Amino acid sequence: MKPDPMPNPSTDATALPLFSLQDVEKSFALDGGRRQLRALDGIRLTVQPGESIALVGESGSGKSTLVRVMLGLEDASNGRVFFGASELSQFDRAQRQRFAREVAYIYQDARGSLNPRMTVAELLAEPVRLHGLRERAEIPGRVDELLAMVGLPADVRGKVPSELSGGQVRRVAVARALACEPRVIVADESVAGLDVSVQAQLLNLLRDLQREQGLAMVFVTHDLGVAAYLCERVAVMYLGRIVELGRTREVLARPLHPYTQGLMRAFPRFDAPLTVSLRGEIPSAANLPAGCRFRSRCDRAQPDCAQEDPTQRLVGDDRYLACLHPLEAPTPTH
Ligand SMILES: Nc1ncnc2c1ncn2[C@@H]1O[C@H](COP(=O)(O)OP(=O)(O)O)[C@@H](O)[C@H]1O
Ligand code: SF4
Ligand SMILES: [Mg+2]
Repeated sequence: MKPDPMPNPSTDATALPLFSLQDVEKSFALDGGRRQLRALDGIRLTVQPGESIALVGESGSGKSTLVRVMLGLEDASNGRVFFGASELSQFDRAQRQRFAREVAYIYQDARGSLNPRMTVAELLAEPVRLHGLRERAEIPGRVDELLAMVGLPADVRGKVPSELSGGQVRRVAVARALACEPRVIVADESVAGLDVSVQAQLLNLLRDLQREQGLAMVFVTHDLGVAAYLCERVAVMYLGRIVELGRTREVLARPLHPYTQGLMRAFPRFDAPLTVSLRGEIPSAANLPAGCRFRSRCDRAQPDCAQEDPTQRLVGDDRYLACLHPLEAPTPTH
């Protein structure tokens, strides 16, 4: 299967996406370079201003690596990553500074990402000061505004992270992200491991903020239910590849990839425990099978699935798929 041509953001100035990832690969060297682990393989993804997109997949599917490459925290081994019209790897100093303000990252380990010796007020004031977003005298008022935005009481101002609950720490991380007045929030597993009611509160908060402030959001989760609740589009990842991508409602109403269907069965509701696990073990990304990487777990596998490695291709209106024998014939592109 031949991949479809991607628009080149450097020449196509109309409707510039915020992010555009073109055939991105990321390999890690193992055993002193004797083996390679392919964490990302043929990733094609755009993120438009104001939209919310979920990256979904089991642990080890490459979600965090994709986010780190998007944010320039890791270099892609191959392919190109654009932010607006500029390629991340070509950024000058001014562009790097602007990127640091416009793209806020909420780390998977929210507690570990906060300096344990700083108070909440200091943690929230720091990005405001660093990016020169308020006069000095206005900063305490801005801290109060940020606390109110994320639903934290004013009396947490003087506390350090170890004095806060898990839910409060995540709210501080969200407030710190908002302090930069970003255009996009990238959040990695930001609700995982919390009580269900705290998860629901945080999800509501993120959803309201995203809608009210017109922020784009890239939300990483292993949970399709969370993706469905929060995001307009979803990219389903398996072993470093986006195997299905489209509008969340359409993907969940009519999954085309057997893996998406498997995930839907495994995670019926975001607040329910995992009841049915997907059949079989995930192969190692350091030792990918020939042909389709989902083959060992796929009940639709045919002989050609062992020969051909299906890449991500456009199969409908904003719908991408990497499968030789989809659950349904895709609707042709208009
Ligand atoms: N720095 C690294 N060195 C070697 N392997 C890595 C590194 N970071 C991630 N990996 C591997 O890349 C794959 C994808 O990992 P990750 O992006 O963390 O997945 P996810 O976030 O979906 O759980 C995994 O096999 C992981 O072990
Ligand atoms: S290409 Fe074949 S093995 Fe892979 S997901 Fe599709 S049907 Fe299953
Ligand atoms: Mg991760």
